[in-house]
Amino acid sequence: MTTALIILAAGKGTRMNSDLPKVLHPLAGAPLLVHAMQAGASLEPAHTVVVAGHGAEMVRKAALTHDETAVVVEQTEQLGTGHATAQARAALADFDGTAVVIFGDTPFVRSETLAAMVEAQSGNDLVVLGFEAADPGRYGRLVVQDDQLERIVEFKDASEAERAITLCNSGVVACNANLLFKLIDAVGNDNAAGEYYLTDIVGIARARDLSATVVTCAESETLGINTRAELASAEAAFQSNARARAVDDGVTLPAPETVHFAFDTVIGRDTIVEPNVVFGPGVTVESGATIRAFSHLEGCHVARGAIIGPYARLRPGAELSENTRVGNFVEIKNAQIGEGSKVNHLSYIGDAVLGAQTNIGAGTITCNYDGVMKHRTEIGDNVFIGSNTMLVAPVHIGDGAMTGSGSVITSDVEANALAIARAPQVEKPGTAAKLIQILKAKKAKLQRGS
Ligand code: UD1
Ligand code: CA
Repeated sequence: MTTALIILAAGKGTRMNSDLPKVLHPLAGAPLLVHAMQAGASLEPAHTVVVAGHGAEMVRKAALTHDETAVVVEQTEQLGTGHATAQARAALADFDGTAVVIFGDTPFVRSETLAAMVEAQSGNDLVVLGFEAADPGRYGRLVVQDDQLERIVEFKDASEAERAITLCNSGVVACNANLLFKLIDAVGNDNAAGEYYLTDIVGIARARDLSATVVTCAESETLGINTRAELASAEAAFQSNARARAVDDGVTLPAPETVHFAFDTVIGRDTIVEPNVVFGPGVTVESGATIRAFSHLEGCHVARGAIIGPYARLRPGAELSENTRVGNFVEIKNAQIGEGSKVNHLSYIGDAVLGAQTNIGAGTITCNYDGVMKHRTEIGDNVFIGSNTMLVAPVHIGDGAMTGSGSVITSDVEANALAIARAPQVEKPGTAAKLIQILKAKKAKLQRGS
């Protein structure tokens, strides 16, 4: 079944009280919109159309960053969900499969649920995703009679009897694309909100003797974000799911409630993640690694057997090979650390490549930035970098070389050489004792004077 995804993301989200469009607020390190796009992507849609409005340029950028094949259309005035869906018409002019409409502010819809809707659409003209609401509140109500969904009534327009219905509308709709746009043509805005409701297509379809059915899902899947408080509880829900999933997948989490995952974190089995570790987007940790307490990782890859932290920071482009060690107060950015190499204490390694079995002494820094441009540091295999070495990039350290502690290395060091670049030590016998006497005399004089 070929599908097209229409994601409604034009609303302002007034209740977020924010300059940022609602769908760009982050959940687990990704905009809400990206969560919706990810769920929809599981259908392998032939087209993904994002309807943007408020903050359209920002929304466009976020959508295309996630999926460059997405088409972003603009709804310049927010006249309702039906009107928003209609904006996708031109983008889908040549498409004749199933259109699935989802909301950009509803991040938890599962791929299985969307697949079930597409499946149901093959036997029905119209499929709506519904759920039994614990507290139906202001949700649209699904009016079902004899196995047919007859219509959807918005809370504002509902009678007392209709408001008593607990089967609610999630907003997700599946329908043949051409039929969808035909039905929307018949939607008016004579209702309590003065909006063109997408939900009205159900009653219109039934009046034309078309069939409409409901697929149901858990209420937790259809959670829409309208306020920052809801965003915070959505984050909490995401995190508790992610922790449970990690534990099921064989990851050891001694204090799961303190570990924060991103939407795309991947961790192999038998890896240990100690308390208070934070995963930003784009992290892959292989099996059997140890991420010690208070480490922060984003955009990086950690291979088998590596031990990171405590208090380590891995930034985008950090590539840690097997059995590497990255210790406390070490920051690694855009750098490959070869097999078995160690950067154990108080270092910054950025824009660099390190070979295998190399040891980086405490306090070493790759001076990668000259104020205008970034430069690379290359360090070979079996190198010993002395403590507090400044490696002023671009610079190359050959295999088996050493640098003396406290060196400022500004030129390349050949293989197996020892480079020392610091002022030679000068020793003046007896001078320390004399100096102390002079200073004590000065202090005594000052105290007498006061
Ligand atoms: C909608 C449904 C309601 C359902 C609820 C589920 C309608 C008329 N009502 O109500 O039945 O129970 O969702 O959460 O569909 N949007 C646009 N352009 C617009 C209006 C909305 O892009 O002109 C987008 C919003 O950005 C949002 C989504 O559509 O992502 C839903 O809009 P919203 O105003 O939140 O609809 P609800 O009133 O919650
Ligand atoms: Ca809503």
